[in-house]
Amino acid sequence: MTSTLDAPAVRDELTRLLDAADAQEPELHARLAARFPGSFPTSDEEAADLLTDAYIAVPREVGELLAMLVRATGARTVVEFGTSFGISTIYLAAALRDNGGGRVITTEIETAKADAALASLRRSGLDDLVDVRVGDALATLRDLPGTVDLLLLDGWSALYLPVLEIVEPALRPGALVVADDTSLFPDVLTSYLARVRDLGSGYRSVDIPLGDRLELSMRTGQVSAASTAR
Ligand SMILES: C[S@@+](CC[C@H](N)C(=O)[O-])C[C@H]1O[C@@H](n2cnc3c(N)ncnc32)[C@H](O)[C@@H]1O
Repeated sequence: MTSTLDAPAVRDELTRLLDAADAQEPELHARLAARFPGSFPTSDEEAADLLTDAYIAVPREVGELLAMLVRATGARTVVEFGTSFGISTIYLAAALRDNGGGRVITTEIETAKADAALASLRRSGLDDLVDVRVGDALATLRDLPGTVDLLLLDGWSALYLPVLEIVEPALRPGALVVADDTSLFPDVLTSYLARVRDLGSGYRSVDIPLGDRLELSMRTGQVSAASTAR
């Protein structure tokens, strides 16, 4: 079984981006330490102005996992909240190519990042599979195709639940929802995790200790009356 991730144009672009992301880390930590001496921000939104040019991308192993999930489920429509420089988007789009085609609808609030992501997708030869929507996810993701096979939540954590609620009507039974970085701001994610871990709310869910931890949830669609009453 061949993988588009091994195509030279894709591999070279991913290597360039992942190396740049790694190289940026020490300076990023210094920026955060200067603003939050001896502590860590309580939310990503609190540090957002320090992160406008930050990659803060999925690590290689999470990218590989995302590509496997897209391939294994035969996904055709993927929605991503938080494009940044397009590293995760490349993993998702490469897997769609292997599935025979489809669409990643991804959204990024920083115009310069979205432009850079689009340029990387072009260099990778994957731009025909991606719709990069510039703006606030709460607005840009309101217009979606009828069926979504996989949702990646990787923007600011406080918006995971509102974005899930916008995309939820389009999630097919069996659709996967991946929430990234769940260990970083646990307090902010309490209501999101409570929702997807409540069997009555129409999901089954597990914690995956990869990178800064992921929550992998599957839409069952079986919503109990107790949950709908909340
Ligand atoms: C962790 S980064 C995404 C990393 C990316 N998925 C990757 O692996 O390469 C989060 C991104 O979400 C973007 N973002 C935050 N709030 C947003 C919003 N309301 N709408 C769209 N994008 C947003 C940030 O600007 C940032 O670039």
